[in-house]
Amino acid sequence: MTLPLEGKVAYITGVARGQGRAHAIRLAEAGADIIGMDLCRHIDGIEYTLAEPADLEQTVKEVEALGRRMVWEQGDVRDPDFLAHLAQRGKDELGRIDFVIANAGVMPLYGPRSNERLAWNLALDVLLTGAMNTVEATYPHIVEQGDGGSIILISSMAAVQPMMRTEIGHSMGNIGYAAAKAGVVNLAANYASLLAGDRIRVNTICPTGVHTPMVDNDMVKHFYDNVAGPEDVKVLVPAIPIDMVESIDIANAAYWLCSDDSRYFTGSTMRIDGGAFLR
Ligand SMILES: NC(=O)c1ccc[n+]([C@@H]2O[C@H](COP(=O)([O-])OP(=O)(O)OC[C@H]3O[C@@H](n4cnc5c(N)ncnc54)[C@H](O)[C@@H]3O)[C@@H](O)[C@H]2O)c1
Repeated sequence: MTLPLEGKVAYITGVARGQGRAHAIRLAEAGADIIGMDLCRHIDGIEYTLAEPADLEQTVKEVEALGRRMVWEQGDVRDPDFLAHLAQRGKDELGRIDFVIANAGVMPLYGPRSNERLAWNLALDVLLTGAMNTVEATYPHIVEQGDGGSIILISSMAAVQPMMRTEIGHSMGNIGYAAAKAGVVNLAANYASLLAGDRIRVNTICPTGVHTPMVDNDMVKHFYDNVAGPEDVKVLVPAIPIDMVESIDIANAAYWLCSDDSRYFTGSTMRIDGGAFLR
C-alpha cells in the first residue's frame, strides 16, 4: 500500500522534542523522509532547559524505526548559512524538499531575566528571524522542483490574543514572544502571496498551550503557583474543558496542511486552541 506522503521530504526545525518530534513522526508515519535540526544546547537568558543531543538522537531513532530516512544536524535557526547548508545537504541525500515546518522556539516569558531587553531580542531572533531564515533557506528548492509544496509556520494564540493582563505578567519576554508570533502570521501571508503562483501554500498554526517541555517546567510552574494573580491565569484557557492540547493535535493539523486534502488552503491561520479564542 502506498502511504499518502511517500516520496515526499519534510524540513523541520526544533525537531528534537515536543511538537517538532511529533511532526517528524506524524509525517514519517505518512511516508515522508525528514530533514531535521535542533539547537540542543542552552541559550543564555532562557530560564528552562532546551533540548539535548540525546533528544535529537531519539527523534532520529523513532523516524528510522518507521522505515523512513532522516538527515539531521545540530544547529541554530538564527544562522541562515547553516539552514541553507542543511537544505542543500538534505536535498542532495533525500532528493527533494516538499514541506517545511518552522517550529523551533523559545519562550522567555517568566523568571528573573524575562524583563531584560535580552528576552525581547531572543524572542524576535529565534521566533521571527528564525522562521524567516527557515523559509528563505528552503523555498527556492521547492520552487525549482516545480510541483508545489506546503510551508507551515508555527505561531501561537499569543499572536491573536493578548497574554499580558496585569503588571505581574508584564515582561520584555512576554511582549517579545507575542510580537514575534504575530510577525510570523504576517510572514506567512507575504510568503503565501509570493509563492501561490508556484502552488506552494504557506499557513500558520496558532496553538494554545501545548503539553511540551516549553510549558511543563519549573519556570512556568513557579509563575503559576507563586507569582500569578487570579487575572493572570485567565490567558489562553480553552472553552472545551481541557488544560492544554497535545503535540499530536498540532502534528495532525500539520499533516493535513501537507496533504493534498488542503490543496487550496493558503495564507490562513489555523487556531488549534480548544476554543480559547471564544473566551
Ligand atoms: N508549548 C506551547 O504551549 C506552545 C504554544 C503555542 C506555540 N508554541 C510554539 O510551538 C513551537 C514548538 O515548541 P514546543 O512546545 O515543542 O517546545 P519545546 O521547547 O519542547 O521545543 C522547542 C524546540 O526548539 C529548539 N530550539 C530552541 N531554540 C532554537 C534555535 N535557536 N535553533 C534551533 N532549535 C532551537 C529547542 O531545543 C526545542 O527542542 C515553538 O515555536 C513554540 O513557540 C508552543
